[in-house]
Amino acid sequence: MCGIVGYVGKRNSQEILIEGLKKLEYRGYDSAGVAVYTNEGLQIKKSKGRLAVLESKLGEAPLAGHIGIGHTRWATHGKPSDVNSHPHTDNSSKFSVVHNGIIENYIALKEELIEQGHVFVSETDTEVISHLIASVYEGDIVKAVQKAVTRMRGAFALGVLTEYEPEKLVAVRLSSPLIIGVGEGENFIGSDIPAILEYTRNVYILNDGEMALLTKDGVTLMTLEGNFISREIFRVDWDIVTAEKAGFDHFMLKEIYDQPKAYRDTMGARIDESGSKVVMPEVRMTEQQIRNIRNVHIIACGTAYHAGLVGKSVIEKLARIPVETDVASEYRYRSPIITPETLVIVVSQSGETADTLAALREAKKNGARVVAVTNVVGSSVAREADDVIVTWAGPEIAVASTKAYTSQLIAFYLFGLYLGQTLGTIEPSYVSEVLAEMQQLPEKVEQILSQTGAIKEIAERIVAHKNLFFIGRGLDYAVALEGSLKLKEISYIHSEAYAAGELKHGTLALIEDDIPVIALATQEDLFEKTVSNIKEVKARGAQVIGLNIEGETELAKVADEVFSIPHTHQLLAPALSVIPLQLLSYYASLALGHDVDKPRNLAKSVTVE
Ligand code: M6R
Repeated sequence: MCGIVGYVGKRNSQEILIEGLKKLEYRGYDSAGVAVYTNEGLQIKKSKGRLAVLESKLGEAPLAGHIGIGHTRWATHGKPSDVNSHPHTDNSSKFSVVHNGIIENYIALKEELIEQGHVFVSETDTEVISHLIASVYEGDIVKAVQKAVTRMRGAFALGVLTEYEPEKLVAVRLSSPLIIGVGEGENFIGSDIPAILEYTRNVYILNDGEMALLTKDGVTLMTLEGNFISREIFRVDWDIVTAEKAGFDHFMLKEIYDQPKAYRDTMGARIDESGSKVVMPEVRMTEQQIRNIRNVHIIACGTAYHAGLVGKSVIEKLARIPVETDVASEYRYRSPIITPETLVIVVSQSGETADTLAALREAKKNGARVVAVTNVVGSSVAREADDVIVTWAGPEIAVASTKAYTSQLIAFYLFGLYLGQTLGTIEPSYVSEVLAEMQQLPEKVEQILSQTGAIKEIAERIVAHKNLFFIGRGLDYAVALEGSLKLKEISYIHSEAYAAGELKHGTLALIEDDIPVIALATQEDLFEKTVSNIKEVKARGAQVIGLNIEGETELAKVADEVFSIPHTHQLLAPALSVIPLQLLSYYASLALGHDVDKPRNLAKSVTVE
């Protein structure tokens, strides 16, 4: 977690650092800081709280200089505080370090350094790095960083400056993302591309175990052992405005409205011109390799996990292969049975989630083929998987995932159809039928987005409640889980999602007068059973907000009110039914005055286990 930015060039580095950090606040925002080499040497300013606090501090007493590093923090070691904020320095204050990740052996290193006379001021693992570099420095910062890194265990990305060589900025990547921006007479580092996109579109993506020396005149890439690397520049062709709010009040709302485009882009060229076949050249498995698959494991966290639950139903139905979906943080500790005939699908918007990455590595270690579904080209997950299905949702900035989730659903529909058509488990006419329905989804999402009034009104009403429930069966249950997570995440209202048929086995005891129950009933096969479960909660006094497919008339007879989504193929309903739930949580958060895009205690990219 955390965001790193760095600059060396002719311009005022403070401004560039602050602008870059604003683009990285989604990575963490409990404190921020910068170090700049000024006429008075290396100067650090940092503070607890949002970036705006640091910005106003710097407004009162700016740091003038042409080289600097900056950091926005999501606390791991030590509470958010001024002293725990990055950059950290050593006792001589000649070295300065920003860090994303965790140094697993920092306690042992700290004890060793204390014995040598180093004095520590913070509770962080990062401070150890600055002391370690200072302790091995012999006139060459690159060599000192290389030497220090050999002592460190864990996952990290670093930006390092020293007053002794004030024209050099050193960057290191080991399991935490870091990119280098290449400009003219200036160069940059960033945890993510938007941090530097305002200044350059030319980027090097560092791989694990690589580092870079940046001066204003050039970038030298090398391994941590010091072997030089030659690499082609990656030209970023997406626009910075796609990463901005585009007139919406919040990134989340913009991203909800981005969904029709995200659906179209993710389907894109993957549906052949006749509309009867899925084409996935990015999945490089041969037909025989697909035939050899005995089981599928889908692994992900949070919202991506919920997409994986839909993926399970889709693949089992279309390809008739058994699928298990696991939360990544549980997967590798439960000794899963992985064989070379297991296909592992990892799902991650960011492609940097530490738990998901660790599960991916576990799967590979056991000989499984890994397909990644990710939104970030060049992310760690994308680079380590065998095949990569990119969800073309565009950058997702709001912590609450919306368009990434629905694009993951589209990716699962396509992949399920692709497996089914390859294995012959579905008829070509069925593939055409589903694809035709899929191509209509963007318009149907637009239709839902054009009638938000009713959802806003329900949201403003439910915020008076401390608890509520989401219920559904089959695919509706998977969507209920996502609706509940979304609501908790940004409105802080407690909610639970239940398989509707499971309520009577315990949870029904919690249903009392007036408690809101959001009941999803989009699955025709399960409709009658769901209605029976709705009656159970109604009989205990719940107010039921039902969600059905337009044209269906029975739900209104049991629910207090009903919101309808356009008609679609039953399997595709999650791609529509989740939209009102996303809007519900958005408006609830807004009504309660919360920070919609940056909910408390959370960060966009979770790069610690
Ligand atoms: O980047 P990832 O898709 O791997 O992230 C996984 C979860 O951390 C993420 O989906 C999280 O649950 C969202 N904030 C939910 O809105």
